[in-house]
Amino acid sequence: MTNQIITIDGPSGAGKGTVAYRLAEHFGFELLDSGALYRIIGLLAFQQGLLGDEIDEDELERLIYSINLSFRPNTAQRTVQILIDDKPLTDDIRTETVGAYASKVAVFPKVRNALLDLQRNIASNKTGLVADGRDMGTVIFPDACAKIFLTASAKARADRRFLQLQQAGKTADYDDILAKIVARDERDENRTVAPSRPAPDALVIDSSDKSVDVVFDEILAFVDGQLNSMTTNIN
Ligand code: DC
Repeated sequence: MTNQIITIDGPSGAGKGTVAYRLAEHFGFELLDSGALYRIIGLLAFQQGLLGDEIDEDELERLIYSINLSFRPNTAQRTVQILIDDKPLTDDIRTETVGAYASKVAVFPKVRNALLDLQRNIASNKTGLVADGRDMGTVIFPDACAKIFLTASAKARADRRFLQLQQAGKTADYDDILAKIVARDERDENRTVAPSRPAPDALVIDSSDKSVDVVFDEILAFVDGQLNSMTTNIN
């Protein structure tokens, strides 16, 4: 496996996606959005009626093994596109509703285990990868050369989301957005397997009161330092 892995973990809305994309562009690395994997499984599970009051972990595991998940680099967007049975998913997986489905299926050890090798295999033939998620630095890529945990207060994240929706001309209920963010954080942080938390060797940044550019510059300085010390150690 390549050592050139940068992990960015943290709650949704803290700015991980933007920073991950900019890092991938800067270093010429590919990007793994692991949340998209959980969102796809969450959406399929919902469509198949598996997310009722009693969720059966074995059914979810069977669902994952019944589909053929594969990956195709989208060089123009620097992303690793996820394909289901060789076809890209066309449904919208970026909604908060699908985020909640993802968070629900993500608590189950069998689900996480079924996705573990898939995620590691993505890194195996890459010169470099930026991996964005909740457990990238703690579980999936514990040997990553630079680990970042990017967080922000629930209020700051709700403010951003509210503004985004307003700017997109969509109706948005601020209290509802905040309540959903808090509920999802609670589930992601308190699950027994791979809870969302910083790796002991991660740089932790709170973006609540910082612009994207400031956050990116701080992270870039850290990553540059880590990559340089890696090269020094090799020589
Ligand atoms: O990053 P996101 O909002 O797209 O992630 C959606 C949900 O998927 C998140 O609330 C928890 C789960 N997830 C996870 O458990 N582990 C990951 N590495 C990525 C996402």
